[in-house]
Parts: sequence; structure tokens; C-alpha cells
Amino acid sequence: MRRRSLSLGALGVAALALPRLVPHARAADQPRFALGVASGQPRPDGMVLWTRLTGPDLPERVPVQWELAHDEAFSQVVARGSEDAERVWAHSVHAEPAGLEPGRWYWYRFRALGQASRSGRTRTAPAPDADATLSLALASCQRWDHGHWAAWRHAAAQSLDLVAFVGDYIYEYPSPPTALRRHHGGLLRTLEQYRARYAQYKSDPALQDAHAACPWLLVWDDHEVENDHAGGHPTTPLGADMGTLRAAAYQAYWEHQPFAKAQRPRGPDMRIFGRLDWGRLARIHLLDDRQYRDAQACPPPLRSSGSATVNLKDCPALVDPARTLLGPEQERWLADGWSPDRPWNLVAQQTLMARFTSRAEGRFWTDGWDGYPAARDRLLRSVVDRRAAGVVVLGGDVHAHHVADLKLDWNDPRAPIIASEFCGTSISSHGREQRLLDAARAHNPHMHLARSDQRGYMAFQLDSRRLNAQVLAVDQPDDPQSPVHVSARFVVDPRRPGPQAA
Ligand SMILES: [Fe+2]
Repeated sequence: MRRRSLSLGALGVAALALPRLVPHARAADQPRFALGVASGQPRPDGMVLWTRLTGPDLPERVPVQWELAHDEAFSQVVARGSEDAERVWAHSVHAEPAGLEPGRWYWYRFRALGQASRSGRTRTAPAPDADATLSLALASCQRWDHGHWAAWRHAAAQSLDLVAFVGDYIYEYPSPPTALRRHHGGLLRTLEQYRARYAQYKSDPALQDAHAACPWLLVWDDHEVENDHAGGHPTTPLGADMGTLRAAAYQAYWEHQPFAKAQRPRGPDMRIFGRLDWGRLARIHLLDDRQYRDAQACPPPLRSSGSATVNLKDCPALVDPARTLLGPEQERWLADGWSPDRPWNLVAQQTLMARFTSRAEGRFWTDGWDGYPAARDRLLRSVVDRRAAGVVVLGGDVHAHHVADLKLDWNDPRAPIIASEFCGTSISSHGREQRLLDAARAHNPHMHLARSDQRGYMAFQLDSRRLNAQVLAVDQPDDPQSPVHVSARFVVDPRRPGPQAA
């Protein structure tokens, strides 16, 4: 085994796993699977299995064996294979078993360097023509230094088919000295720094349990790169070169999540939007609101991008029909891809879609869909034009639970409801003051719920006739063992858009 000087990232991972590591500990003593396992992107005949080897003395290339079984004891192994974990990709493993049975649960684990990983549970999607049900969790925004992750401990104990994580998996900031638990290192700028931050987040046992419990679907938002960045525009006047920053951040993102090998980023580009079908029940569309967007309208002084809260009359650029949140290609792809013959079309994306003005005359936060109202209209119009059924938009980003009707005319309370929205609160990131949301409710009658004072997630049960939604809240966000309770319930009928309180 060839030794070489230790990288900062490798040291970070090792330091996390064994904080008081003696300098000459034997390689065999290093935990090799300290970041857990994960699976994602279930298809009727396969999925992606993920892990990343850890330790300061890994060779350039390490063969990693994986196996997949019908049972937790691995007495009926149905597939196995080997992948090379390479230093250039942070020794991450992205195995893609194929030829599996549709609609079936499996167990998986990895072996390398004389050690075995924990086992994880995963499943294939139902066959395209199968009747199916779906149990789905929606989560986002897990800022490490803002709170503990009791929400993940709770989610890992549910019978979920899928977790949809819609962005802010890591935060790029350094932590203040008063933080509940501090980020290691400063502001993220380099590949090694992003890798170390993922390793820190993935050291959390509740997050590891949630990844091991079922497959995940993931999209990023801004903090996986930099707060509020827009496409190729940095947020700060003296910001880093966005191409370099995105290339580093995207690579670390791919290295740490169950994405397919074909999705490996090329420099500052990585395609994460896509869709998958869940039998005859649902088509799930995953969107990228961040990589292809135009800069926010009317950015703060001396900046070319960045969010602000603006009055409509002071910012005519807000309603410029040429501005896009998804980019023209993704907009077309979504409009052309609504499922015409399934009861549900679920759209997992980053942020709040429903209008949420804080004043009667129109005052909007420019980083969300309110900053791109013409693009929002185009999306909702395509739902009408293509007669897409059961459109339910799932979001995050705003650190508040929102449940809303989606409409083309927000000013007419009798205007038709086009789709339903569930935007889940943060796992741990702090929210705005609740009184601000309460005050805004009067101007937004389509908003059924707005709770920024809750941390947690949402859970959905779907069959062909009904969607049941649970709004979940953590009792004590600073306690990793905190109970989690259902704070509200809603139902949606796929033939009648609009969530109803249950
Ligand atoms: Fe966030």
C-alpha cells in the first residue's frame, strides 16, 4: 500500500471518526465506513447504492464489494459486485445493481479493507403498470449549528418508501462560537472543504439511520454552493469565480449522495433534474431551481445577484416575462413530461411556489418563485394546457411549513385552483419570526398554513384516490432525542386540486 501525504479532507474525516486518533494507529483500526450508507433513485429494476470510504491512509484505488439480499441476515443474496473507490472521487462508491424485481424491498452492505459497512434497506420502484401506494417524506435545510436532528430519528422509524430531500443538505458558513454544535472550518471555498463539511454532516447517527432506512431522491438548493447564488452569478461583489466554486461544490455533492455514475459533474455542470414513475400511481418530477436561473431581480446595491424583499412598484424587472427560474430547456422538459394517465404528478423542487406577499400592494422576497412570477405562470399554465392531473408541488428553503392552493390569479379568491402545494419546514435551520407570517396571512387567502416556528418535516401517504399529508413538528429542536408530533393534517383529492384540512 503506497502512502502519501494526508489531505485536509482526509484528516477531517478521520478526525471526526476518531477525534483523539493516535498518530501511528494501524490502518486496520481505522473505521472505513464512518459516513454510513445510502441508496437512491429507485427504478423498477434497480437503484443506486452509495458509501464513501474514510480514513487518512487510503490507497489511490480501493476495490469495494457490495451485496444485495432479500433478507437482513443476507442469507438470500440476489446480486453482488465490485466498484473501485478512487481518491480522485473521495473514495466514494456508486454501485448500480440492475435486473432486480420491481416493487420489492432489499438489504445491502459493502465490504473493503477487511471491514463491513452497516446494512441499509432499499427498494425498487413498482412496475410501470402496477397499482401502487406511496409513503413519502419531504425534508430540507439541515443546518448543523442551528439544532439537532430529532426529525431524522423520527423519520427513520417510519415505514417510508422514499425520502425527498429538496436542498440545503449542508451550509457553507463558519459557525459563531455560541453555536449549539459548531461547523468545523470556515467558509467553504475548495473541494477539500466541501468534502469535510459533508463528512461532518454525515457523521450524525440520526441522518445515517434515515439514509439507511429507504432510498432518497435529492436536489440541491443554494447552500450546497453559496447562499442565494443564481446560475453563474456569485452573491457577493468580491465573490469567488462561480465556475470554480460550482465545480468544487458539485463534485463534493455527487461524491456524497446516491447519484448514478452517469450524473458525475463535468466542471461546473451537473444535471440533477429528472423524473421517475411510481407504477400507475404517480410520476415524480425533480427540478433544479438553482443552476439555470436568471439572477434575482433588483439585487442589493453593488451586486449582480442576491435576494432582497422589494415592492412591486419599485422593481418592474420582477415581472419581466423573459426571466426564468428553471431555464428554457428545463421549462420545456417539464411541460412536455406531465403524466396524462396517472392520478398524481408530484413536483419536488427547492422553494415556496405560492405567492406570499407581505403587504396588500405587493412586497416580495426575490429568491423564491415570487421573484420569478412569469415563470411560475408558465409552469402552472402548462398544467392546465396539458390537463395534468393531481399536481402537487413539494418544496422547502423557507424554513416554514406552508400548505397552499396554487393559482394563476392570486387576487381573485374564486379563481380556479390549478395545483396543491406542500412546502416543508427545515429539519433544523432557524425560521423567521412567526408574527411576520401571521401578519402576511391576511394578504394571501390561498395560504392554508404558514408556520415558521416549527422544525420538522412532512409525510405523505398516497393511493389512487387520496393524498394524506402530515405536518410534523419537533418538540425540542435542541434535543437529539426530542419527540416529534403531528401538528396538522391535510388531504388532497387528485381530481380536485387544493389541500383540505383534515
Ligand atoms: Fe435553508
